[in-house]
Amino acid sequence: MNIVTAHKLAKNYNSLRAVDGVDFEIRQGECFGFLGPNGAGKTTVMRIISCFLTPSAGSVSVFGLDAAREPARIKARVGVMPQETNLDPDLNVLENLIVYARYFDIPKRSSTPRAKALLEFVEMGGKTDVRIKHLSGGMKHRLLLARALINEPELLILDEPTTGLDPHSRRAVWEKLEDLKARNTTLLLTTHYMEEAERLCDRVAIMDSGRIVTIEPPATLMERHGGNLEQVYLRLTGRSLAD
Ligand SMILES: Nc1ncnc2c1ncn2[C@@H]1O[C@H](COP(=O)(O)OP(=O)(O)OP(=O)(O)O)[C@@H](O)[C@H]1O
Ligand SMILES: [Mg+2]
Repeated sequence: MNIVTAHKLAKNYNSLRAVDGVDFEIRQGECFGFLGPNGAGKTTVMRIISCFLTPSAGSVSVFGLDAAREPARIKARVGVMPQETNLDPDLNVLENLIVYARYFDIPKRSSTPRAKALLEFVEMGGKTDVRIKHLSGGMKHRLLLARALINEPELLILDEPTTGLDPHSRRAVWEKLEDLKARNTTLLLTTHYMEEAERLCDRVAIMDSGRIVTIEPPATLMERHGGNLEQVYLRLTGRSLAD
């Protein structure tokens, strides 16, 4: 079954075509990755799928629901970890989760134990009372992951979940994502780390200037084109991922 189906999806920002008519499907239980350099259109696609942005053309359905018609029903079942930290700096760690749970109409008697369990899951059980401004970058990342899970989402959208993390913290996040996948959560992520894509993703979409160049499992791409994913990317687009 497809969790997401996008058809001729496009997004213009004034005269800029940020997403230029893309088609893709994300299957139940898989980890699907978007790879591409800065400005390729990855975040724009993520925001459309999470119903925070309306496409200029084309359509997307999530859980079989049309994003244009039923955004609220989709949002209730999706978790989003944004590229930019948008935690509330005036609240502590636990309060951030409880306030966020209100958007999903989760009553406090349920959200408090759920938030505490999620903080244990991301190994921040000892940080409930700490203010956001006193957290390290890595801790903020893990808190954003916990927050994205507050509504027990069937689809988890992660926009660069490990950018800026040290190698140890990065591996810790990978283990959490593997745990979630083992529990049948469908994962959609963007990343600039080829090692992350190779380890986590069942299939990757290679994006360049708003278009999808190919969608394949990482192993298939490396076998067919030779070399690692970085080199595959260069061969397919003529551009380095670091451009
Ligand atoms: N709100 C906006 N208004 C105008 N242009 C925008 C807006 N958001 C994104 N863009 C432009 O759309 C293009 C795609 O941006 P997007 O954020 O989707 O890229 P990305 O692939 O996520 O890049 P990165 O790897 O840097 O996160 C870029 O050229 C960007 O400048
Ligand atoms: Mg982005």
